[in-house]
Amino acid sequence: MLNKKTTETEEQTVAYAVEDHVAWVRFNRPEKRNAMSPKLNRQMMRVLDELEFRDDVAVLVLTGEGAAWSAGMDLKEYFRETEAQGLRGTRKAQSESYGWWRRLRWYQKPTIAMVNGWCFGGGYGPLFACDLAFAAEEARFGLSEINWGILPGGGASKVAVELMSFRRAMYHALMGENIDGKTAAEWGLVNEALPADKLTARVAEVAKVLSGKNPVALKATKDAIRRVREMTYDNAEDFLVRAQEAANSFDNEGRKEGIRQFIDDKSYKPGLGAYDKSRQKN
Ligand code: ACO
Repeated sequence: MLNKKTTETEEQTVAYAVEDHVAWVRFNRPEKRNAMSPKLNRQMMRVLDELEFRDDVAVLVLTGEGAAWSAGMDLKEYFRETEAQGLRGTRKAQSESYGWWRRLRWYQKPTIAMVNGWCFGGGYGPLFACDLAFAAEEARFGLSEINWGILPGGGASKVAVELMSFRRAMYHALMGENIDGKTAAEWGLVNEALPADKLTARVAEVAKVLSGKNPVALKATKDAIRRVREMTYDNAEDFLVRAQEAANSFDNEGRKEGIRQFIDDKSYKPGLGAYDKSRQKN
């Protein structure tokens, strides 16, 4: 029998397809529960790079092939084998994984985590990096680090306190117990939990709504929501004025068209949906 490890190429670790302006990107190591190996981390950065500025991509969805979203870092290839190369190996592996999560946090397009199954430890990095998250009720989330003897690193502790209450984050991290998709929604790790057979349709629906909106406003908005978390009210107010003025230099016509279709044409109401981008002249 062929040894999977020696035959797995970097390209195989991530799969993607673009359909109707949505890039469906999949962790693609189902036989290893999509654990993140250095190969996968390098390939994911290439895939994100390839898709980020494509005109046919408006939204990116990150999901997993098989039973897992991602079982976290690959304990063998990411930890044991890189540690064997000394500090240089460890730091290189960290910068490859943290690098693509950071890229995803500030991605040009809105991003959605579609959590189809297991989501552990290091998986919380890309989970938080995605702007929205939807999970199967059957999915299982856990900070399992404590179960094998490390702290939740790679940002996972930060993700826990960013998304959950202090008490829940502490319990989650110390106990190493799994929660299901419904509880993950209740605790704020994901937006919604749905039966597995409804998950893709719901995510496609959300992606479609997003792809109908002004792309400059989407990028400005997602960055604003992330940035203002750490600002005082006054700093946020000032930042948002400047961020909007900067966005106007990329797209001054879109918002004018949005106002025009509402005030002059009366063809839509911003309180009820987005203006028709296709009618914008330039
Ligand atoms: N690292 C390396 N290999 C892994 C990982 C991982 N994180 N997760 C699964 N695998 C491998 C298994 O070793 C096994 O390999 P093999 O077929 O060569 O023996 C294969 O994937 C399938 O795994 P099973 O354990 O047989 O799958 P099962 O469906 O029974 O269990 C589960 C799934 C619960 C996800 C289990 O694999 C598991 O506990 N994985 C580890 C989860 C974890 O704690 N991840 C680390 C988080 S901490 C961090 O990311 C820093």
